[in-house]
Amino acid sequence: MKASAQDILKETQKTLELVAKSSLDAGDKDWLTQVTAEYYANHVNPGILEYRKSVSTEYISIEWADNANGFEDVKGRKYLDLLGGYGIYNVGHRHPKVVEAVSHQLKRQALHSQELLEPFRAILAKLVNDITPGDLQFSFFGNSGAEAIEGAMKLAMLHTGRKSFIAANSGFHGKTLGALSATAKAKFRQPFLPILPDCYHVPYGDADYIESALKSADEVGNDIAGVILEPIQGEGGINVPPDDYFPRVRELCDRYGALLIADEVQTGFGRTGKMWCLDHWGVVPDVMCMGKAMGGGVMPIGAFVSNKTIWEQLFPEPWLHSTTFGGNPLACVAAIAGIHVLLDEKLPERADKMGTDMVNKLKTLRRRFPKLCTDVRGKGFMIGLEFPTDAIGFEVSKGLFDNGVLVAGTLFSAKTIRIEPPLTLTQKEMDQAVGTIEKVFKEVNAKHFEPKKPGLRKP
Ligand SMILES: Cc1ncc(COP(=O)(O)O)c(C=O)c1O
Repeated sequence: MKASAQDILKETQKTLELVAKSSLDAGDKDWLTQVTAEYYANHVNPGILEYRKSVSTEYISIEWADNANGFEDVKGRKYLDLLGGYGIYNVGHRHPKVVEAVSHQLKRQALHSQELLEPFRAILAKLVNDITPGDLQFSFFGNSGAEAIEGAMKLAMLHTGRKSFIAANSGFHGKTLGALSATAKAKFRQPFLPILPDCYHVPYGDADYIESALKSADEVGNDIAGVILEPIQGEGGINVPPDDYFPRVRELCDRYGALLIADEVQTGFGRTGKMWCLDHWGVVPDVMCMGKAMGGGVMPIGAFVSNKTIWEQLFPEPWLHSTTFGGNPLACVAAIAGIHVLLDEKLPERADKMGTDMVNKLKTLRRRFPKLCTDVRGKGFMIGLEFPTDAIGFEVSKGLFDNGVLVAGTLFSAKTIRIEPPLTLTQKEMDQAVGTIEKVFKEVNAKHFEPKKPGLRKP
């Protein structure tokens, strides 16, 4: 140990007392601010502090609490959450039903025995069967989206006996090595190449490319195990494919014996106005990956789901794929409560209606500032605002942050700001959000795209 036990006990004791407090006094706030900045610089990553400078004037803003649709920092500043944790807060922040379920479970048992059968894992698996389309029936629970992709890739290899994959340019599927093979951003992949060497990327949204990739792989005997795609690309820039894309890809996968792996990690659980984004086109994948919002905005959990014929690969040896924390009771009850709230409060329908309304309002704004905002696109509450450069994207994010509205660029570029609020966003909050975006657009537009007013001439 690098510090004495006595010093460590002092710091942990102080922190635990702070955790137990419902409000912070001035001394607590100063201490938290100082140690958070210092420990990020010395023990997390100073690069994160540098990044924060580009998106916030007051870059050392330290989160302390959240409420229905927003966050509060240690200084008591409130932020309306238009980012939704990259799509984890579909049922809002700490929805009382999710918190209640997790609290009850926590009082009884937190993690699993690893040996007895787990009731909530079983009930959640049945529920996932109920809420997914077609013949999707069996689930494996992990702790993240990337893990879900890893499992889906292994399952496709097992079932088909093939090793190659097709994914899309601008696609994002996570950063663990298998998932990273399918992810398309050069900056994230290059240091680790060749990762999975037989993972081919084709332009997104045009099924002809998938067809020619499947065909040429077939011709050279490099048969494709799976085609991995996001129904709408999130991190790649909120890219919505044409309506015929997924029906055609489905047909092509069947023709060439490849599995269609749908990455619904960001688009799932009502985000785009339907429970699953592929429901917009009536397409049933062979394997579906989910994560993010699955834990009701309270616990981390992800899953890959498939049909009985494919899952049979795992029947004789269920430990062929396993993980210590996956399917733990706390995460499973959070997911069960989250699914209950989604359906009870008709949140996918709400995302559809309010999201369409918001897109229309943002398109009206775009028409007023065509040089600043070059596109508005999306489905439901998965919306992208496009700007001419990364720098302008950062400036808009910064302006919104300074006005108490939290947004972010995508992982591929700051040019696209994504709007992914909790699906529980109220009409008043939406109006506030659009009003703030308008204010910031006016300011950034005046700075970059309006002719400078001539100064007063001296007589
Ligand atoms: C579509 C998609 N797939 C997979 C992932 C990876 O999920 P996680 O960060 O939970 O590993 C993400 C994360 O942004 C995602 O958007």
